[in-house]
Amino acid sequence: MMVDVLYLTAAVCFIFALGGLSRAESAQRGNLCGIFGMAIACVAAYLSVNSADFWFILIAIVMGGGIGVFIARAVSMTALPQMVAGFHSLVGLAAVLISFSACFAPELFRISTPSGIKVLSLLEMGLGSTIGSVTFIGSLIAFLKLQGIYKGHSIPLPLNAFFASSICCLLFYFTVTESEEAFLLLTMISLLFGATLIMPVGGADMPVVVSMLNSYSGWATSGIGFTIGNHLLIITGALVGSSGAILSYIMCRGMNRSLWSVIFAPEQAKANDAVASGGTRAFKSGAPEDAAFILKNANSVIVVPGYGMATSKAQYALKELGDMLKKDGISVKYAIHPVAGRMPGHMNVLLAEADVRYDDVFELEEINRDFSSCDVAYVVGANDVVNPAAKNDPSCSIYGMPILEAEKAKIILFLKRSMGTGYAGIDNELFYASNTMVLLGDAKKTTEDIIKAMRE
Ligand code: TAP
Repeated sequence: MMVDVLYLTAAVCFIFALGGLSRAESAQRGNLCGIFGMAIACVAAYLSVNSADFWFILIAIVMGGGIGVFIARAVSMTALPQMVAGFHSLVGLAAVLISFSACFAPELFRISTPSGIKVLSLLEMGLGSTIGSVTFIGSLIAFLKLQGIYKGHSIPLPLNAFFASSICCLLFYFTVTESEEAFLLLTMISLLFGATLIMPVGGADMPVVVSMLNSYSGWATSGIGFTIGNHLLIITGALVGSSGAILSYIMCRGMNRSLWSVIFAPEQAKANDAVASGGTRAFKSGAPEDAAFILKNANSVIVVPGYGMATSKAQYALKELGDMLKKDGISVKYAIHPVAGRMPGHMNVLLAEADVRYDDVFELEEINRDFSSCDVAYVVGANDVVNPAAKNDPSCSIYGMPILEAEKAKIILFLKRSMGTGYAGIDNELFYASNTMVLLGDAKKTTEDIIKAMRE
């Protein structure tokens, strides 16, 4: 009874945590709610085991917590997507291991009857092992791709169709016969399926895949919760499963892609990965002193941060520049595209880290109409999210993606290191526009030089 109440309290905390994390202002509170809920869940888990297992659990938590703290401190912001992918693989592995325990030692989980394991439990453990295996291998491959260790291979669709149909048949056979061999084969084919499903996905689509795998891992956890009769696992699994699915949908909408095309359109992926070296066309380049002069004489500036801001860690310099401009009475706003950077909320997190006021940060729909009346669009390491080709060129891979309309500003300052392309691998007409000035160099260094020039 006590354990059930604690599990329910933890589940409510997780729901509040998700609610809090959905807005920048309440994200810290949401995080604390999640930590509190997890602490309650751990206490409940202690209380539900016999004292002999207590020390094993404590040792596991201390070791796991220690590794978690180490990784969280060591991993840079730009490597967060691969870290998340790595952690998801562990959730998948846990689901597989629990399914194995339930299958080979059913007496421990109160799922056996005199005539064998309950049919529903067999289905749950079969599904848990299948989804867990796909999540485990899929997330590992996502990690290797995001880390740049593995580039990927195209896989013929019929092979995936063969694996998918074999999984359905084996799942049915296992549920009916309770055959341990069928269970092992099911797990092995699911591992292969997880690999062949994720191998062809393009680099730019990996964050969507990571979020999808997150969703899978949630459903696997929920299934396992049913098998072992743990209400907290059922609820948290469903929360993770549905929030991951919603996030994947939001990301696809932000890129104007469908989930189907992300998973089953390797041609698109290849096009995305083909990072061109940039053209040899003429463009207007400028020095930090020129940018300082332009900014000082502006009335309104909209900052458009992108992936390059994250890699160069330019957010602190950006905040300092914004504060200087504001002191001179210049309006400064920050425009965030839903898929700027490499993960959802990437730019929001970095700007919040640098103490940029939430009131100054605007989403695409809120700010797009302001570009036409603004003097300067200060584009820091962003490219695809301001590329007009998304509106004008039906043949390009990002066609249809909503963009921040920086091209409507009177002057566009582009901070980037070269004339190379962004993640989508396509050139940007805006670099060559008559009202664009490109400031070549690292975004942080350039912004610092602009600040220096303004002071002087
Ligand atoms: P990108 O289009 O990738 O452009 C990044 C720009 O930053 C490049 O032009 C690059 O040019 C520049 N850059 C890199 N390092 C820099 C540095 N140290 N200093 C200055 N500039 C630097 O980024 P974006 O505009 O943020 O677009 C995001 C892309 O990722 C979109 O294509 C989106 O579809 C994709 N994507 C995002 C997500 C999420 S959820 N965010 C998910 C899936 C896919 P140089 O190399 O010349 O410097």
